[in-house]
Amino acid sequence: MKKADLKNLLNDMSLEEKVMQLVQIPGYEFEQDAAVTGLTDKKTSDKVKELAGSTLGVWGAKKAIELQKKYMENHPHHIPLLLMLDVIHGHKTVFPCPLGQGATFDPEVARAGAAIQAKEAASEGVHVTFSPMADLSRDARWGRVLESTGEDKYLNGRMVGAMVEGYQGESLKDKDHVAACVKHFAAYGGAEAGRDYANVELSEHTLREQFLPAYEEGIKAGARLVMTSFNTLNGIPSSGNKWLMRDILRKDMKFNGVLISDWAAIAEMVNWGFAEDMKEASRLAMDAGVDIDMCTGCYSGNLQNLVKEGKISEKLLDEAVMRVLELKNDLGLFEDPYRGASVEKSLKVCLCDEHRKVALDAVRKSLVLLENKNNALPLSGNKIAFIGPYVDEKKIHSSWAISGDPKANVTIKEAVEELYGKSDVKVKFAKGCNMLLDKTDIGSGVAKENDRKNKTLIEEAVKTAKWADTIVLCLGEDIGQSGESTSRVDITIPAPQKDLFSAISAIKNKKTVTLIFNGRALDLQDIPDKSDAVLICWRPGTEGGHGIMDVLSGACSPSGKLSMSFPWASAQEPIHYDHYNTGRPKPKEGLSIFSTRYLDCPNEARYPFGFGLTYSQFELSKVKLSGKTLEKSAKDAFIEASVTIKNTGNVTATETLQLYIRDMVGSRVRPVKELKGFEKVTLAAGKSKKVTFRIEESMLRFFTINNKFESEAGKFVAYIGTDSATDNGAEFELI
Ligand code: BGC
Repeated sequence: MKKADLKNLLNDMSLEEKVMQLVQIPGYEFEQDAAVTGLTDKKTSDKVKELAGSTLGVWGAKKAIELQKKYMENHPHHIPLLLMLDVIHGHKTVFPCPLGQGATFDPEVARAGAAIQAKEAASEGVHVTFSPMADLSRDARWGRVLESTGEDKYLNGRMVGAMVEGYQGESLKDKDHVAACVKHFAAYGGAEAGRDYANVELSEHTLREQFLPAYEEGIKAGARLVMTSFNTLNGIPSSGNKWLMRDILRKDMKFNGVLISDWAAIAEMVNWGFAEDMKEASRLAMDAGVDIDMCTGCYSGNLQNLVKEGKISEKLLDEAVMRVLELKNDLGLFEDPYRGASVEKSLKVCLCDEHRKVALDAVRKSLVLLENKNNALPLSGNKIAFIGPYVDEKKIHSSWAISGDPKANVTIKEAVEELYGKSDVKVKFAKGCNMLLDKTDIGSGVAKENDRKNKTLIEEAVKTAKWADTIVLCLGEDIGQSGESTSRVDITIPAPQKDLFSAISAIKNKKTVTLIFNGRALDLQDIPDKSDAVLICWRPGTEGGHGIMDVLSGACSPSGKLSMSFPWASAQEPIHYDHYNTGRPKPKEGLSIFSTRYLDCPNEARYPFGFGLTYSQFELSKVKLSGKTLEKSAKDAFIEASVTIKNTGNVTATETLQLYIRDMVGSRVRPVKELKGFEKVTLAAGKSKKVTFRIEESMLRFFTINNKFESEAGKFVAYIGTDSATDNGAEFELI
């Protein structure tokens, strides 16, 4: 439809019709088996059902086509319904969770995965995905860290941008793509004490420097929607925060797409004590520029009156409605309301070999090797026991792979049988214990019945372990322990699994390899010390078993790098590498009294951001700079920082070189290091390569005391290393 025709359409719509374009109702109002991803206490009237402009949680070509057909027939202007869904890390082919994708340090993995997710979802009638989540995630107590690519703004920005491009493709007219929604704006990951939905207190410079950049990368990549967050930011709920939405999002970031609230976030302004009632909440949200009200009766029940009473101008309403109509138009829905959804197409594309292959590649690249004592991996034993609740567990995706079918996931056991079925290697399997102590009380409380079962399971597992020369322990968080509303204060593996680990690791003269399935950074307690190897598997998705066995067997070397710091103790959270130095930094050696410290724990992470081993070893030369000064005012000026990296081990492997910069003095204190670039290098044994990063003035900017993004003259250090703890640096000056 041409823009002029859209305008005519808008002019022809009644006030009620217009308002309803801004109303999103849950999919279960139309389809019994729609995904439910929020509170379900509201019932929608038939009138709202007839006119609401969008819904969420419905997929399936047949269902989507029937729903659209019926809806359009009843709609006075036959405007198509927008179908949205949380396709977060997979529709049918499920990729590693975003935190795992972050660990690939490879935006191409994210882009390829998003393109496949879009293609599969679009074939099943989905128009918009509520992804990517760009929330900076520094606190592993927060369960939603699994949906982000981690603790670093730069890495997140690169991944978020790639995901948006992957989902949306070149044009939304291309029916293999869907519109992307960057969420949750803003700073949702800063929730106090890591408790979901809690308030966020942030200084403006931390907000702008650390939290906003990844959202902005998504917007620059062209994301058509943005979602508000549940939290307050410095006392103001996001959905009513005019400064955040109008000044920052729309003006500074130049976002001109559709702004949708999170599920019930507008109505929740009443609970926050920010609005007296739903009517006032609606006025505040409209004023802030929130176009769509997700799943409450706020807009449907109040907007018409607010307009009639002159509290919301019709112009403001029209602008919001126009944005929704434009999105529908850009998706090509006016020409083809089914947008290419077809049962035949979905059967062809969903979970096809090509997609599974890309997912397998992503799994292989996402696995992070934390320990590998005496080259315990790759596996070399002849009698291997696979023990633990994750050996034969289908649920290796996350709670945010809502349209995926766990039956399609390849378990460890299945992959082991494929791999060793016809070889001389003998394998045995044992469950070892239940995933959790008690389903209703995650990780705590006493469940006598379960206790007994766990005891028997552990006894059986010990027998199996004694038979083996190598034990692969498959442990981790339950699927329900990460995701929305799953904050934890004790970020360790569940109690029965700790008992299992103690029993197995006490057996002498065995090689013990521990796999961890997780949706967050964990306090691994005694696992690293008592295991010969530890591999972080995240929530790997459909091809999990295959990818993990490829790495364990040595078919490929692990290359993942931690996207979040792993602490020594839960109470270190939030912990992130890009902290400030303090006035009393802890000395590297010697007495640390009166310095910043814990009495009972190191300051540093146990495994820092960016860390991950391979099956080889690498040597890095000292950082060399092409010059010692960078001229601020010289156009296109840069310094090159380079290292030579050599594979000194015996096998081909991939290392990730990371460029960090420290600004030594600033008008506001600066982090001890900030990631500014990375490059993956694959080298055969004995080979070496020179890797060069370019440093430009724009990379040195921050939100200065003048409240502007600008650089300040002075000393900087450029580090190049294989993790964020590197001290391989060289100094230069910005003049
Ligand atoms: C979540 C969002 C999600 C929405 C729709 C909310 O509960 O916070 O991330 O996109 O539900 O499912």
